[in-house]
Amino acid sequence: MGFERAVNIDELRAIARRRLPRFVFDYVDGGSEDERTLAGNRAAFERLRWRPRTLVDVSARSSETTILGLPAALPAVVGPTGLNGLDWRDGDLALARATAAAGLPFAMSTVCMSYIEDIAKVATRGLWLQAYVFRERAITDRLLDHAAAAGCDTVMLTSDFPVAGKRERDYRSGLLPKQRFTLATKLDILRHPRWLLSVATRKPRFVNVERELGPGRNVNEFVGHGMFDPSLDWDDLARYRDRWRGKLLLKGVLRADDALRAAAIGVDGVVLSNHGGRQLDSAISGMDALPDVAEAVGNRCAVLVDGGVRRGSDIAKAVALGAQAVLLGRAPLYGLAAGGEAGARHALAILAEEFDRTLALTGSRAVAELTRDLLA
Ligand SMILES: Cc1cc2nc3c(=O)[nH]c(=O)nc-3n(C[C@H](O)[C@H](O)[C@H](O)COP(=O)(O)O)c2cc1C
Repeated sequence: MGFERAVNIDELRAIARRRLPRFVFDYVDGGSEDERTLAGNRAAFERLRWRPRTLVDVSARSSETTILGLPAALPAVVGPTGLNGLDWRDGDLALARATAAAGLPFAMSTVCMSYIEDIAKVATRGLWLQAYVFRERAITDRLLDHAAAAGCDTVMLTSDFPVAGKRERDYRSGLLPKQRFTLATKLDILRHPRWLLSVATRKPRFVNVERELGPGRNVNEFVGHGMFDPSLDWDDLARYRDRWRGKLLLKGVLRADDALRAAAIGVDGVVLSNHGGRQLDSAISGMDALPDVAEAVGNRCAVLVDGGVRRGSDIAKAVALGAQAVLLGRAPLYGLAAGGEAGARHALAILAEEFDRTLALTGSRAVAELTRDLLA
């Protein structure tokens, strides 16, 4: 089946699974340890039930909203995912183009595989840089300087990665710990000649980190070997707040007290996230944390949430519980892997259509009408 015929995100996932070598699919799809949190992210949406308003004239509806003060077609942002260049040739650029076409902001990962400047040219509906803080702090500083020069308006600092989560699928394929693939992985790669020719022939690289490292240092040796600084703490957040003039978000919050602390430091928003179930297994999901955090934070800063969004109705549920927007992780990635830019566009179109349909079916004409009383 071509990606055009996929009627939902799950079907795009099935196509992505066939197209990608197993080790890439597992990298995208997998979570840490027993994948309890990965499953919990879906369960948090699945257990919510609507209490729709009836007999509302919903003939005129709008999904438009503002995210951090800027207009967006939908309360959603394409969130930061590393290694997109493994899903499709120049995957970051393809995904950024699809995101802009859908009228949404695009968040690029520190470990993405296209230059910030090139992404900035195509991410015309807003570009956010997700920043990891390296042990070698100067690398992060230079990355922020490059981001500012490229016109990126928002930095999102990820705080849930003091060490990597134990992603067991990646150990099985040989991607971890040292990219020494097992024989089974190598044979499987050979069984995907299309991928081999389009993606692997131009080995995707962590070009932004590589540039900040300077000549003579091997980025592949560097990335993934305890590179991120586990000493990162609240004082650092305050320093980044002073240093970065644009909007600043903290991603990886799961508690109201932490959200309040971040707001007091002056962040523009927090992202309730467990990193898509890839870090601490058995962590609660962002959706579990959302009601408490939204109530505690009030309008001190924006509250965003991610993890497990696979339906437009999931986006609506997050908004109804108090989120300004969601981040989309795997959903557009499955589209990207299934069909490049067009596939990612298809994924985003599915979500937008489902969101609009949910507005109508819940008796809502606008994003602001998605209120908490709609959820049982
Ligand atoms: C393949 C993949 C790579 C990711 N890379 C990053 C990253 O580089 N930085 C980051 O902050 N989060 C990263 N994440 C986490 C996402 O930003 C997001 O929190 C998560 O995917 C949301 O869950 P979902 O995939 O179920 O939508 C990654 C997630 C995936 C699936």
